[in-house]
Amino acid sequence: MKRASPPNFDQAGFKQALSQFATGVTVITTRAASGQLIGITASSFNSVSLDPPLVLWSLATRSASMPVFRVNSHYVVNVLAASQLDLCKRFATVKGDRFEGVSHAAGDSGMPVLDGALAWFECHNRSRYEEGDHVIFVGEVERCGVHDNAADIAPLVFQSGQFHGLKLL
Ligand SMILES: Cc1cc2nc3c(=O)[nH]c(=O)nc-3n(C[C@H](O)[C@H](O)[C@H](O)COP(=O)(O)O)c2cc1C
Repeated sequence: MKRASPPNFDQAGFKQALSQFATGVTVITTRAASGQLIGITASSFNSVSLDPPLVLWSLATRSASMPVFRVNSHYVVNVLAASQLDLCKRFATVKGDRFEGVSHAAGDSGMPVLDGALAWFECHNRSRYEEGDHVIFVGEVERCGVHDNAADIAPLVFQSGQFHGLKLL
């Protein structure tokens, strides 16, 4: 079989091209065996399958929360509203307890569901794929929910390193 040719771009060019793809923003949350709550901002979330219900997201291998996500069976994907930009930044940057002052409730699996999320997916992790400098997680959705006023709430959108609300065309 023919092998891949070497890239015709540098890493900055690759990132710039990738960043043109607009995504929603999620916070993936879990609870470590120690009881510590863990959460990270992720835009790599996507749907995979309706039957069975599967979703995916990816996490940088060097991520501080990787040791917990590598072993935990459950996590929640929280889809952020535009009004939750502060949570997006908090779960991407804060080094200490990211849950301090963040209202949440435990889902049936005991994993934290963030109040005000536009939608949430409570997942049992099904598989992990090591690819390059990231690990792809595929989760089987056990329960999901949508904010009561979802139709009136703008999602948070990330594109080209900037945050946007969403306007209907
Ligand atoms: C909008 C946005 C999207 C992000 N998406 C991802 C992602 O999909 N995967 C990832 O590994 N990091 C992503 N990050 C970076 C992580 O949120 C950030 O590195 C975080 O500090 C990781 O936490 P940890 O090192 O405590 O695990 C994103 C950051 C932002 C602001």
